[in-house]
Order: sequence, then structure tokens, then C-alpha cells
Amino acid sequence: MLRVPSPQAPLLAALSGTPASPPPIWLMRQAGRYLPEYREVRGKVSSFLDLCRTPKLAAEVTLQPLRRFALDAAIVFSDILIVPHALGQKVEFVEGEGPRLEPVRDAEAIGSLDRTSATEALAPVYETIERVVAELPQAVPLIGFCGAPWTVATYMAEGGGSKDQAAARLLAYRDPATFRRLIDLLVDASTDYLVNQVRAGARVLQIFDSWAGSLPEDAFERWCIAPTKLLVERVKAEAPGTPVIGFPRGAGVQAERYVKETGVDAVSCDTSQPLAWIRDTLQPLVPVQGNLDPVLLVAGGAELDRRVEAILGALASRPFIFNLGHGILPETPIDHVARLVHLVKSGSA
Ligand code: CP3
Repeated sequence: MLRVPSPQAPLLAALSGTPASPPPIWLMRQAGRYLPEYREVRGKVSSFLDLCRTPKLAAEVTLQPLRRFALDAAIVFSDILIVPHALGQKVEFVEGEGPRLEPVRDAEAIGSLDRTSATEALAPVYETIERVVAELPQAVPLIGFCGAPWTVATYMAEGGGSKDQAAARLLAYRDPATFRRLIDLLVDASTDYLVNQVRAGARVLQIFDSWAGSLPEDAFERWCIAPTKLLVERVKAEAPGTPVIGFPRGAGVQAERYVKETGVDAVSCDTSQPLAWIRDTLQPLVPVQGNLDPVLLVAGGAELDRRVEAILGALASRPFIFNLGHGILPETPIDHVARLVHLVKSGSA
């Protein structure tokens, strides 16, 4: 049989340190409400968590953005809060409001969480991955993900999303020993979760630390860097060779320490980090990903074209993955996403 070498995946090339022209592109939250075909599938199930736990439908929505746009990766359709749910915390997504959880704020509540049943509870995600991978060309890897222990803990303690996610910080300052138990449990559960995603077929992993920017430097070291370092080390021991992208959103200049100390293979930059700083400080250390403002993608027009060109001009001659600085917004016009992908693929505005 004639063996045709599989084309190198541009995302994997960038992650291994090879600059590419054009650079690979994928978008955080690329499956979602801005797509009518997503809304249609979403309408078939009563809750968002049911969608995440129905592999046939979750696989379908994972693939939807790839049918429309020439994206270089798929990301499994799930949510970071599926891990607390699998640990036994009550989690629901309220229509038009977001996640709502039964808050976990003391030793007793933390003690009632149970890691042993998590693998079974998360099995639908692994089946989604198997289904998606069977459909994807070799050049388009599937990204598996989890929330960083810190960010997941903020939702667990707060009981949902809020303007400052202060409940976790309060617990961490008042009773670090109890908070440590929660973080340790999340490191263990997240290690299993990421490794199982690789076993199911994920070829890249991303750790979303959406609330990394809420901590002062000593707490950042203790609750963001140290647990992420442990998670990365353990995943690398069990699933060697799988690149891990870290996304310490809002960390600003602390992203440099984050990269140096956690051992992530690449870093995703948020919209506030200046391009020259990313180029001169982070990109010499690891490949970078980012950082178009999702609101600019909603706005579109000449301003979008100019900024895409500025990002490419600053970052694309070294290992780089084009992405947003945070997730795509539901009100994003589909034409603007198509325009963005065209601009990045054609290398100029
Ligand atoms: O990127 C992808 O396409 C994969 C899917 C994905 C979702 N959530 C689906 C989702 C990913 C990677 C996430 C990560 C996630 N979830 C994060 C980290 C990134 C970030 O945005 O900061 C966080 C903090 C969450 C928790 C979460 N999930 C919130 C706060 C909300 C409500 C706000 C919102 O955007 O609706 C969700 C719901 C959610 N997760 C939706 C989707 C598609 C919308 C649910 C719906 O369809 O009604």
C-alpha cells in the first residue's frame, strides 16, 4: 500500500517552535451561540450540561465551526465546570445567567467531594473526543482542556460567576489549609481529566486560568503557578509529548514568571498584553498565542483589519498561533470571523 505522509499539522509545528507563514489560527469558544447551527442543536436539549454529556451532539457542535472556516484546530465541546460536577458538586447553567453552583466553602463541603466517580462521570467527554477525532483530517488536531485549579476553585467557592470571584480569595486568605485541600483535589482530578482526554485522542491541551489576574504576586505563586506546575508535570509524566498551552488571563507581567515556572509549552495572551512586550518577553521563551480583542471581532471593519495586521506584524515571524484574547462573543457576526480567517491565511489585510 502506498503510504502518503500525513501533512504536518500547522498547530503542532507552531507548538514545536517552527514559525509558519501563514500562522495557524483557532478561536477560543469557536463553537457557540454566534453560529445558528449551534443554536439549533442547543435547542434539542434542555440544558447546556446535557449538551456537553451527549457525545453525538457535542461532537457535532465541535465540528461546526470547522465546516465554515479554515481553522487549524478543533476544541472539544465541554466546559471547565464539568469537573466540579463530576466531583459531586451541584452545577447548573441557568439560561441567560450562566453557571450556578452549590458553594463549597468549608472543610465539610470539600470533604464531601469525591474523585473516585469522576472518570465515569466524565466518560461522555472522552467519547465526544473519539467521535470528533474520527472525523478530523491529520492536519487538524483536537485540543482537550480543563480549567486551572485556581479558576475552577473560584467558581466552586463563589457558587457561580461574579464581578470579582472574591469568595475563593477570602477562603484562601482566611483558611489556607482548607483551601489547599480543594486545590489539591482539583490538581488530582484535572490530571486524570487531561490524561484521559489525550488517551481518547486529544493531541494538544489547554489550561484556562481565566481568573489568574485576580491574585497578588505571593498568592499568584501559591495558588496559580504552583498547582499549574504540578498539573503540567503530572500530565507530562503520563502523556509525554502532548503540548500544553497555558492561558493565565489577566496575569499581565506575571505571565513571564508563569511561563518560566509552570513548564507550559506555549502561552495564550489576553487582549491587554502589549504586542512588543509579548514579542520581547514571552516569545523568546515559548510559542505564543493570541490576542485579538473579541469585541473588535464584533465591530469588524477597517479597525479589525488594521489590528490583525499589527498582531501578525509583531508576532508571526516567530512561533505564533493566532487567537482571540478571550472567548468569542455570542453577538459576533459570522462574516467577521470569515474575514479574520481570510486575513490571517492571506497574510495581509
Ligand atoms: O472553546 C470552545 O469552543 C470549547 C467550549 C468551551 C466552553 N466553555 C463552552 C461554553 C470552553 C473552552 C469553555 C471554557 C470556560 N467555561 C471558561 C474559561 C474561558 C473563559 O471564558 O474565561 C470559563 C470561565 C467557563 C465557565 C462558563 N461556562 C461561564 C462563566 C459560562 C456562562 C457565560 C457564557 O459565556 O455563556 C459558561 C457557559 C458556556 N460554556 C457556553 C458555552 C458554549 C454557553 C452556554 C449556552 O450555549 O447557553
